Amino acid sequence: PKPTIISTDPGIDDAVAIAVALASDQLDIQLITPLAGNVDLENTTHNTLQLLTFLGKNVPVVPGSDRPLLRPTINASVIHGKSGMKGYPFPTPTVTADHTRSAVAAMHAVINHNTTKTTVIGIGPLTDIAILLHLYPADREKIAEIVLMGGALGRGNYGVLAEFNFVSDPEAAAMVFQSGVPIKVAPLEVGLQAEVMPATSEKIKHLGKVGDMFYGLFSHYRSGSFETGLRMYDALAIAMLVEPEMFTLVDTYIAIETQGALTAGASLIDLTGRLHHAPNATVATAVDPAQFEQWLVNAIAATNK
Ligand code: BDR
Ligand code: CA
Repeated sequence: PKPTIISTDPGIDDAVAIAVALASDQLDIQLITPLAGNVDLENTTHNTLQLLTFLGKNVPVVPGSDRPLLRPTINASVIHGKSGMKGYPFPTPTVTADHTRSAVAAMHAVINHNTTKTTVIGIGPLTDIAILLHLYPADREKIAEIVLMGGALGRGNYGVLAEFNFVSDPEAAAMVFQSGVPIKVAPLEVGLQAEVMPATSEKIKHLGKVGDMFYGLFSHYRSGSFETGLRMYDALAIAMLVEPEMFTLVDTYIAIETQGALTAGASLIDLTGRLHHAPNATVATAVDPAQFEQWLVNAIAATNK
């Protein structure tokens, strides 16, 4: 299995991504670093610990940044609820967070302890990944790839042109895309194809205690709806790693806007080569919706094992 770190802001779709990542025999999740994003750091950390306790997985958790590099904090509590993971009575966490060091120091330690290259998954703002790459430039060579959910081919879901994870910390996103580390990214439009439709929600509900838990969270999730389909954005990052065949993937150059008064955080995914720049990322332009749903059902079923 690939040694892997997850930077995340749970978040209901983050919780799904974490659970299926932990259940995959292709991934060895060695560290989870929650950070401020969908909700504040205290809540994303608590949510991570609750989820791991519920799943019976004692993975190291080291809290990361409580705010973006330069800009005021934004959140997405309208989508995920005030606590970020509303809708299920989780047990009091017995898994604990390590507050003795920073998330970035912990990432650096994991990356340098591994004898093979480490995969880094980013499904929240990119603040901590950017700091890691800046503070420890030699780690760039030791990262297999950075696998992200974020950005948009076209219009945004937070700004007119900006997607939430990138607009949360545009400078951090820009630093990551300029780092030279191989990047795979699933943008917003692909998230719109990665929906849990009503029949699948019903299936998930009956997939043991984990399915029942997710059904509870889904009933409070405001990204899409039970009736029209719930968007599982962050699970795409895991799917790109473990089942890339269901995606259409294109090597391209991606720049992140940091200057625009109205467009900061927008991702310029240069599919037509207008910026005359060599590719710095592989972008998913589509996912097969039926394959995605089937994969997710199987992946959630596997979490009960
Ligand atoms: C992204 O924003 C967050 O609300 C989700 O968890 C996902 O990471 C989608 O734009
Ligand atoms: Ca997220």
